[in-house]
Amino acid sequence: MKWRFIAALMSVTLLVLLVQDIPLGFYLQQVEHERITTSLERDAFVLAGRSEQALETDSVSDDGELIAAVKKYRDAGGSRVVIVNDQGTAVVVSDDDQADLGTSYLNRPEIAQALNGQISTGHRFSTTLNQELLYVTVPILSGSDILGAVRLTYPDYIIANRVNDQLRLLSIVAIMALLLAAIVGYIVAGSIAKRIRALQEATEELAAGNLRTRADEDKGTREITSLAESFNDMAERLELLINQQRTFAADASHQLRTPLTALRLRLERAHELLESDPAGAAERLAAAEAEADRLSNLIEGLLLLSRTEAANVQRVTVDLAVLTRDRIEQWQALAAESGVKLRYEGPVSAEVIAVPNAVEQIVDNYIDNALSVSPLKSKITVRVITAGTLASLHVLDQGPGLTPEECTRAFDRFWRANSDRHGSGLGLAIVAQLARASGGKAQLAPRPEGGLDASVSFDLARN
Ligand SMILES: Nc1ncnc2c1ncn2[C@@H]1O[C@H](COP(=O)(O)OP(=O)(O)OP(=O)(O)O)[C@@H](O)[C@H]1O
Ligand SMILES: [Mg+2]
Repeated sequence: MKWRFIAALMSVTLLVLLVQDIPLGFYLQQVEHERITTSLERDAFVLAGRSEQALETDSVSDDGELIAAVKKYRDAGGSRVVIVNDQGTAVVVSDDDQADLGTSYLNRPEIAQALNGQISTGHRFSTTLNQELLYVTVPILSGSDILGAVRLTYPDYIIANRVNDQLRLLSIVAIMALLLAAIVGYIVAGSIAKRIRALQEATEELAAGNLRTRADEDKGTREITSLAESFNDMAERLELLINQQRTFAADASHQLRTPLTALRLRLERAHELLESDPAGAAERLAAAEAEADRLSNLIEGLLLLSRTEAANVQRVTVDLAVLTRDRIEQWQALAAESGVKLRYEGPVSAEVIAVPNAVEQIVDNYIDNALSVSPLKSKITVRVITAGTLASLHVLDQGPGLTPEECTRAFDRFWRANSDRHGSGLGLAIVAQLARASGGKAQLAPRPEGGLDASVSFDLARN
């Protein structure tokens, strides 16, 4: 990954450099060419002005100063100078051997053009020098008379060399930019790879079972820190879930042990009494049956708890008021048998959001608890109230109630205020879980007038 990142960064840099430097090279060449042509033109005019008088008086060959200036000019700029008179005959040349003096240049088109009063510039191949030359030819004028011409020639390779010098500089800058890209790429990719490796190690450690493993959320780029945050959220949730499962399994097996032992003892006793005391044995068997019932209730409760804990059940719209009244109807006979008045107060209908069957099971558990503590001739009121966006259900009894501290503890699995009470201690844990899964909340509170207020709230369904 690291090398791929560096290669990508360098390719992009190279592309940018190519796109930028190739046109720049052409442009530089053109600018250099124009610059030299302009400066040659200017120099040619200066020399033309300088030769004007000597040509007028026909004393060019004696003009030592002009000859010296021409040579000096050649030495300084590397340009060859030829001055011809109006006949096209060379009267001044910058060559040291002066061999061309007196040669006719009329056959050179640029000289002929200049003697016609035109300035010309361009390239031509010199067979004498065997190289490409840049030339500038200007006429020497005196008023409207053409006295001769000045031609400056300049080897093309000098221009090419200058351009090459600049291109070399450009290439060095480009190579440095590439190197810099490689170094930056190496550093950035290195730090990203390091963070990802750290995350990978954390993942492996978590997979190996160390649930407390957490990734460092403070270092690295934004993407990496947010990945580390997500990893930590996941690890947190995983730790919680696994711990819940562990305590659940531990609690469950512990709770199952007691009724199982009781059941075995009762069966053993019954076995012993079978011959000597059949009536006593039957009594033990009846007790064993009750114990087996309790055990099966306990297992059912545990299964229900683990099912709602594991599954992400879809919520639906249900009528809290209708379902509550239905359940009350079912409990009436048992309430009457216990000499307890059970009644409903509230609206005819209240549609709420809940997981399927949650309302029924919550109402059943609350009424079951209330009935088991209600004294003879007492009242249980089941009330549904809607307020704002919520609907709540209250089961109010006149029993002994619970202290505020017991009210919170009562939702713990297997907790019972009184251990001789017949029950598994799972009812309220199931209630709390069903309420949570429905997006609501279950609560217990002591009533000021005595007794307990067991309630649950749900979100009202929006029509
Ligand atoms: N209305 C109530 N008044 C007083 N105490 C209550 C009331 N409801 C529950 N409790 C206390 O809270 C405990 C836990 O209740 P929970 O419903 O969870 O278990 P349980 O009724 O003992 O057994 P089961 O699993 O059969 O419901 C009860 O044992 C009881 O001591
Ligand atoms: Mg109960």
